[in-house]
Amino acid sequence: MAGVKIHVKDLWKTFEPSEKSSGGTEALREINFEIREGEILCLLGPSGCGKTTVLNIIAGFQMPSQGEVLVNGRRVDKPGPDRGVIFQEHGLFPWRTVLQNIIFGPQMMGKQLAESLALADQYINLIGLSGFQNHYPHELSGGMQQRVAIARVLVNQPDILLMDEPWETGCSDPGHDAGSSSGCLGKTPPHDPLHHP
Ligand SMILES: Nc1ncnc2c1ncn2[C@@H]1O[C@H](COP(=O)(O)OP(=O)(O)OP(=O)(O)O)[C@@H](O)[C@H]1O
Ligand SMILES: [Mg+2]
Repeated sequence: MAGVKIHVKDLWKTFEPSEKSSGGTEALREINFEIREGEILCLLGPSGCGKTTVLNIIAGFQMPSQGEVLVNGRRVDKPGPDRGVIFQEHGLFPWRTVLQNIIFGPQMMGKQLAESLALADQYINLIGLSGFQNHYPHELSGGMQQRVAIARVLVNQPDILLMDEPWETGCSDPGHDAGSSSGCLGKTPPHDPLHHP
């Protein structure tokens, strides 16, 4: 269907029992939704209800037990650079500085160093960490680390952004607590990602 970026169709996921656990876990049952170009969708629900599992399947990290996900009309069967993922645990490289963390993606994609540095500079400014580019993650606050994790994904300019509770420490509004967890999915806004409605 025209304009549909992500189509989640009849998704079921049961995790098989491991050697030590007594039974399997049904994490998803008959999940259906569509996300169109420019839309932002938030998944809200209590801990353990399956939000991360949905994101992992869209990202291509896990396969569903039944059903499928189409991204731009193509069935997802592996991860791809069209889908940027901001994880629940931000997982910065501790041995790399802020700048080195952010240019990792552009370098992996084969961009020239000068272009990678210019892009990284733009996103370091965007997250308000100018002056901290040569700091290591352990020299930053939790919120600053989370913003680096966000910039590290945005700098790759993915078509789709999959965010697993990205505002927990980085950009939350201290006056507002929804009291539940969220996973967010959306198309990357083109110009001002952090301030797009
Ligand atoms: N790799 C796995 N192996 C077995 N069970 C799993 C695995 N990953 C998730 N589960 C189970 O699937 C269910 C959904 O987990 P999921 O991580 O998707 O929840 P969530 O909604 O993201 O929770 P939270 O808000 O705590 O992050 C849980 O019961 C969890 O125990
Ligand atoms: Mg989760």
